[in-house]
Amino acid sequence: PAPGWSVTADVVVVGSGVAGLTTALRCDTAGLRTVVVTKARLDDGSTRWAQGGIAAALGEGDTPEQHLADTLVAGVGLCDEDAVRTLVTEGPDAVRRLIETGAHFDESEEGDLELTREGGHHRRRIAHAGGDATGAEISRALVEAVRARGLRTVENALVLDLLTDADGRTAGVTLHVMGEGQHDGVGAVHAPAVVLATGGMGQVFSATTNPSVSTGDGVALALRAGAEVSDLEFVQFHPTVLFLGADAEGQQPLVSEAVRGEGAHLVDAHGERFMLGQHELAELAPRDIVAKGITRRMQEQGAEHMYLDARHFGAHMWEHRFPTILAACRAHGIDPVTEPVPVAPAAHYASGGVRTDSRGRTTVPGLYACGEVACTGVHGANRLASNSLLEGLVYAERIAADIAHTHEGREGHEGRERRVGHEYGEHSHEETGHEEAGHDENRLHARVPSPAARPEKPDHPLLAAEARFAIQRIMTDGAGVLRSAASLETAADRLQQLHADARDALDENGKTAEPGVDTWEATNLLCVARVLVAAARLREETRGCHWREDRGERDDDNWRRHIVVRLNPDRT
Ligand code: SIN
Repeated sequence: PAPGWSVTADVVVVGSGVAGLTTALRCDTAGLRTVVVTKARLDDGSTRWAQGGIAAALGEGDTPEQHLADTLVAGVGLCDEDAVRTLVTEGPDAVRRLIETGAHFDESEEGDLELTREGGHHRRRIAHAGGDATGAEISRALVEAVRARGLRTVENALVLDLLTDADGRTAGVTLHVMGEGQHDGVGAVHAPAVVLATGGMGQVFSATTNPSVSTGDGVALALRAGAEVSDLEFVQFHPTVLFLGADAEGQQPLVSEAVRGEGAHLVDAHGERFMLGQHELAELAPRDIVAKGITRRMQEQGAEHMYLDARHFGAHMWEHRFPTILAACRAHGIDPVTEPVPVAPAAHYASGGVRTDSRGRTTVPGLYACGEVACTGVHGANRLASNSLLEGLVYAERIAADIAHTHEGREGHEGRERRVGHEYGEHSHEETGHEEAGHDENRLHARVPSPAARPEKPDHPLLAAEARFAIQRIMTDGAGVLRSAASLETAADRLQQLHADARDALDENGKTAEPGVDTWEATNLLCVARVLVAAARLREETRGCHWREDRGERDDDNWRRHIVVRLNPDRT
């Protein structure tokens, strides 16, 4: 649709979590005209909900090398080691800069950062704030800094599609802006650099720790724009989410891994600690192993959940160290001080996303991705706990530096725009690492047919809002914590049917659903769900958080490689 209003900038950042706001602040500091657009309010994304903290080698005796080693183990052979090395070596300073920006972390009486442990970490290296409200504090500090610097922000603006110029380079985004009269209707921000920082896609499943805004909008946009997406099959299920019933839907309360980090035990209905003997770290094994341990014990006992027992913390520790979790449990009639907390796994984090290089550049020139929406290679087949806030910080700074550098080149070579664009392309080719000889052996490039059939039709007919719930049920039944060829095939067929129904409606009436946030969200969810299922069907092994009950464990001979997907607009 033709934009009703438009803004011009040097960079538009889409999303306002730790990744988006850090990128925006650093771009602004570099003198770039920066616009932040976000689907809801500035603090409505996943960052605000992060509990446990942010991992970095900040403690005495800890080193980036040890953090690297733990991250590589958690990623089960699929991490990009260089990307992880960047994360862990630049991480400590990035956290210090976040503190300079205004975030207050919990400190000991001596004024040192208090550090906790989480699954997969062999050391205490998780900085936290407000006990278990780390994300809320980071969000507060970044939103305040953005406001203090007077950055231009557009709230309630759902990103629709990428704008490109005649050379296929990024030229901005279109937006659907709604409510409160800011700029109601379709709008556009024109900018040669677009940073997707739209967060995850947890809402593709029925029960998730993610807020309702996490609908895969950035990955869907990138797919429609022809960008490559990688590792989408690796959806991490958090092992300990407060169990509110087998049919609970939408965002569920998280019970942070830091609770286990401080000594809570996982037990079954008989009080037996079933993670003992399964892994040297028992309850603090990497997240996929704990989620599998819980799921297996639930299957063996026909139980709907397990329990997290931290009664031994006592009231004082619960109140001071985990006030958010304590309040959430009590709001649901459970008192962790006196009873074990019922928990079960729920969808938590997309380890894959839009494929980027070490500077956050996607395969579309001028389009960047940062944070959960991105696949930088740091998470591999399973993200290490509390590495995600860190990734948002570290790669935001790298992206801002790259945009500033490219901008300088453009400004300094007035009239040579095409040339600069060409140089940029070559640069990307040489330095991303994605194209280097040998790397492609590690990647299976899958061309998934685009839903587009004929050019006169919209590529992605808008779905009715209610389709969201159908997609969530299909994905939970067929592509959840436990998958098989049969369950994935059923999921793929049912998703295809949803798409065909939307197309048929278009054929019959020439109409799609009314454009709006909920219809766009449903449409984006279907887009990412189809690609996720396609990747999960291809990966015929169990690795990290991709658990195929019909296959054996990891198959390094055939599957120590990534599934890279690009929608193919030329085929039906
Ligand atoms: C948690 O607090 O358990 C979540 C940490 C994370 O997802 O990294």
